[in-house]
Amino acid sequence: MRNTLASLDAHAQRLAGTSLVNLIETDPARAQDFALRCGPLYANFARQRYDRAALEALFEIAEQADLAGAMQRQLGGDTVNPTEGRAALHSALRGEATASAFVLAARAQAMAAQLRMRELIEALAATDVTDIVSVGIGGSDLGPRLVVDALATPDARFRVHFISNVDGNAARRVLAGLDPKKTAGVVISKTFGTQETLLNGQIVRDWLGDDSRLYAVSTNAQRVADFGIPPERTLPMWDWVGGRYSLWSAVGFPIALALGMDCFEQLLEGAAAIDAHALHAPLRQNVAVWHALTAVWNRNGLHAATQAVLPYDERLKLLPNYLQQLVMESLGKRVRLDGSDVQVETVPVWWGGAGTDTQHSFFQALHQGTQVVPADFIGVIRVDHPFAANHAALLANLLAQTEALANGSSSDDPHRHYPGGRPSTLLLLEALTPQTLGMLIALYEHSVFLQSVLWDINAFDQFGVELGKQVANRLLPALQGEREADDPVTRAVLQVIRN
Ligand code: F6P
Repeated sequence: MRNTLASLDAHAQRLAGTSLVNLIETDPARAQDFALRCGPLYANFARQRYDRAALEALFEIAEQADLAGAMQRQLGGDTVNPTEGRAALHSALRGEATASAFVLAARAQAMAAQLRMRELIEALAATDVTDIVSVGIGGSDLGPRLVVDALATPDARFRVHFISNVDGNAARRVLAGLDPKKTAGVVISKTFGTQETLLNGQIVRDWLGDDSRLYAVSTNAQRVADFGIPPERTLPMWDWVGGRYSLWSAVGFPIALALGMDCFEQLLEGAAAIDAHALHAPLRQNVAVWHALTAVWNRNGLHAATQAVLPYDERLKLLPNYLQQLVMESLGKRVRLDGSDVQVETVPVWWGGAGTDTQHSFFQALHQGTQVVPADFIGVIRVDHPFAANHAALLANLLAQTEALANGSSSDDPHRHYPGGRPSTLLLLEALTPQTLGMLIALYEHSVFLQSVLWDINAFDQFGVELGKQVANRLLPALQGEREADDPVTRAVLQVIRN
């Protein structure tokens, strides 16, 4: 019989009466066999609620879906975003995973842009600018914000600040602490048509007073020029890079400013290592494939409605925010590539936060709530701060939580009973460096793409976000009192706002 995602139900039902403790006790080798390594990145899937037979079914599904061929097509520059007629070649920003003419041409453009980034940074470093304000939103913000927050050090040449929200409080808070004479601005927008970014960009342009310190990153050179930023301070972007996959492009300019161009290149090298692994490692040794299969198992086998991501490293506290866009904007789809309805559930809600703080907020629900929430725990083995006792405590808590969630603890008192059986994946990095962070992010990118192949959906469009933007544009004149809203409820609320 052909294995399909719907057939995962049968495996889940077969395993429903078997505890996770039992799965591990009866097959202790899974602690090693369900673990993989790609250089400094280690992944352990032994605490997922599948057994070897269910995993076998998952790998058969992977073969039938031709995940290996799909990776080849994506990294080879095929039109994997058919609704917009585009490739998704973020891998070409960081290496030459394949050698098609399209990839090589994209790679040449990427490297020329990197050279320009280096030159612009060197020129800016020769001035007395100390601070950078980066303006962008979504994919033009979350990646740079994550990497800068994770890796920037106090002795960096530039301090980098971010403004994304159209809420004027965001701009006010950031600009309040800065001197316009010692600040440069970078306006990042693939389209250069995003309302939030244009409004915030205007605020920064006016606040700087002198727009010789204003830079842009965009695919749309004309709109950038109309905004008042000349070509010599504009870095390119291309249609073949999706916004949420773009931190490796000139969208990463704030990263390169904060960490230096050499570190930015190490970030790219780490991602390139995962590109090579995802493309060439056999399915059963492929971390991206295991991660994607685990995601569909938890969604389509166990019907988990949400997925938590729990970095046990303060420097990765923005990872859940970043992944929310990467995963949910990519996989939040309800029709297949051919336009027909998908027959299984697609993306769950992704959420999370850094441990150990979150243990004291939402972990109660993870341990004893009625919903089982699969979780990705992420840890870093070696750190370079001097507080060894804290790091030991952090890792002890990380291991304790994965164990306690999986194994539970029985008590005759139902209030003190822990059911266990709560699945998790453990991802460990040897250390947090530009290279390993690049690997971690690229791993999620590939997992997302492979999940999209398994669900037969487009991971690279995002039409779902357009309707709200259109309605907001229609309502702006209504909010300014120039016309009435069409919708009766909005009309009533507008009256409250105006009075
Ligand atoms: O939120 C929708 C979206 O189109 C994202 O996909 C994108 O990352 C973001 O807006 C910003 O778009 P742009 O870079 O064009 O300003």
